[in-house]
Amino acid sequence: SQIAIQKVSQPKPKPNQAELGFGHFFTDHMFIMDYTAGQGWHDPRIVPYGPIEVEPSVMVFHYGQATFEGLKAYNTVDGRILLFRPYANAERLNVSNERLCIPPIDPNFTVEAIKSLVEFEKNWIPAGEGNSLYIRPFVIATDPYLGVKPADTYKFFIVLSPVGAYYPEGINPVKIYVESNYVRAVKGGLGFTKTAGNYAASLKAQEEAKEKGFTQVLWLDGIEKKYIEEVGTMNVFFKIDGEVVTPSLEGSILAGITRDSTIKLLKSWNVPVNERRISIEELYVAHDQGKLEEAFGTGTAAVISPIGELNYNGRTISINGGKTGDLSSKIYHTITGIQNGSVADTFNWTVEV
Ligand code: COI
Repeated sequence: SQIAIQKVSQPKPKPNQAELGFGHFFTDHMFIMDYTAGQGWHDPRIVPYGPIEVEPSVMVFHYGQATFEGLKAYNTVDGRILLFRPYANAERLNVSNERLCIPPIDPNFTVEAIKSLVEFEKNWIPAGEGNSLYIRPFVIATDPYLGVKPADTYKFFIVLSPVGAYYPEGINPVKIYVESNYVRAVKGGLGFTKTAGNYAASLKAQEEAKEKGFTQVLWLDGIEKKYIEEVGTMNVFFKIDGEVVTPSLEGSILAGITRDSTIKLLKSWNVPVNERRISIEELYVAHDQGKLEEAFGTGTAAVISPIGELNYNGRTISINGGKTGDLSSKIYHTITGIQNGSVADTFNWTVEV
């Protein structure tokens, strides 16, 4: 391939596989590629993981022209390495890039770069239930310039992190605070993109919810503060009277790949699933009528995160007795089973490295 390789002289010791947490450890190497206006993307390379030198004036530090992705690699029991829907991530990166005025990257090349780096670092894919190698591709604007405009130079990186569960709760239900002051995103803004600023915008609410004893917040729409959008950094699903409902994507919500996989699995199981607007009032009414059966977040990092408790305007409701629901559990085990090769991949979602 056209990817140049520079190897580390001394590999790092591997972390304890039982204490990985999420995003603390990085492998020996990383991928970098440069963009220069007029020249396009060039000089793809795998180099030792470590500090990079840029000027303090580079545009990403000032105006946040940055996009990222997240996906995972797994070892199968029969010794293969699987990526889960990497082309979906590569295409979504371009959706984000388009909105942030960042030049697109050929999705086939992005997947090739991911495969090359993962193959090179395959000894870092952790063993153990629920563990995987998290892949973080990202793009930053690198012009040393303080005017507000799209940059002329960028760097595309891929770094790898051996990870365990995202939340310490794992597949156990989390307590969620329904945020009615801060908002995450509005239609017409950046909500549908994976850009750094969306996560910066979420921190204050997350901190305040933590202080109140909650794991995360449930985000309401930015205009009426009425309709449910996301939960923490995840998409959100509710099982109401046998039907599954998830907020429709209307510009302010990220098009999650685990969200899409969940919808496709539910349809294949003949579970009715409806993408539509759903208000927090409707949810509380459904609870009071005994119809709110399950609630869960979906995302690459945690896969499925059941919601055991919601607090809105001072009123707490418990969902499924604060326990993981059958459907949440079935989706979790099916997706992670497809990812690690123990469940048949009938949708052709996995790509072998
Ligand atoms: C997710 O995978 O659910 C995410 O949103 C990634 C997170 C670590 C920012």
